Amino acid sequence: MTNRREMIAALGAVALGAQEAKKGEKLAPYYPTPELVVEKMLQFAAVKRGETVFDLGSGDGRIVIMAAQKFGANAMGVEFDKDLAVQSSERIKRMNLASKAKIIHGDMLQQDYSSADVITVYLLPVANEKLRPLLEKQLKKGARIVAHDFEVGGWKYDKQEIIEDDGEGRSHTIFLYKR
Ligand SMILES: C[S@@+](CC[C@H](N)C(=O)[O-])C[C@H]1O[C@@H](n2cnc3c(N)ncnc32)[C@H](O)[C@@H]1O
Repeated sequence: MTNRREMIAALGAVALGAQEAKKGEKLAPYYPTPELVVEKMLQFAAVKRGETVFDLGSGDGRIVIMAAQKFGANAMGVEFDKDLAVQSSERIKRMNLASKAKIIHGDMLQQDYSSADVITVYLLPVANEKLRPLLEKQLKKGARIVAHDFEVGGWKYDKQEIIEDDGEGRSHTIFLYKR
């Protein structure tokens, strides 16, 4: 089974969780991007030292951490799940990356991305669709968006790359969009 199908299958659990969510809505299950694919995503967006990177739905913080540590970015994650937000913030502190990396515990649909040079997403198509108007309104010209496995409906990607094997025999597709 592909990781894409597994993530869609996890949607059932998300739908239950959404009923509890008063402030905002859980738009995707937690399903981490393999580290090899994280690096490809950041390379694909050509992240440069000092740029601002946001990972929307940052999970355990792996994209934020790599963006700060390996690419020298100012990296921000937005995570709805409190435990994941707390754990990833603690990991950032332990790694002495707090000056370069931060996790916001909140709803990705209620943040300001006007400072972003790069946005990364690994979300379901429905979530990408909900985000699109916000990103169209807020993102500056030249900002890049990298989407893992699920396209942003309504946008035409500039580039697509297929990663045939993530080390565990799974393939992944990444899409690059430019504003
Ligand atoms: C598929 S995981 C991706 C995690 C991480 N970006 C990665 O690629 O490893 C999606 C994440 O989005 C979070 N999420 C779902 N809805 C959200 C919302 N409305 N606001 C912020 N985070 C959300 C989930 O809790 C989950 O951690």
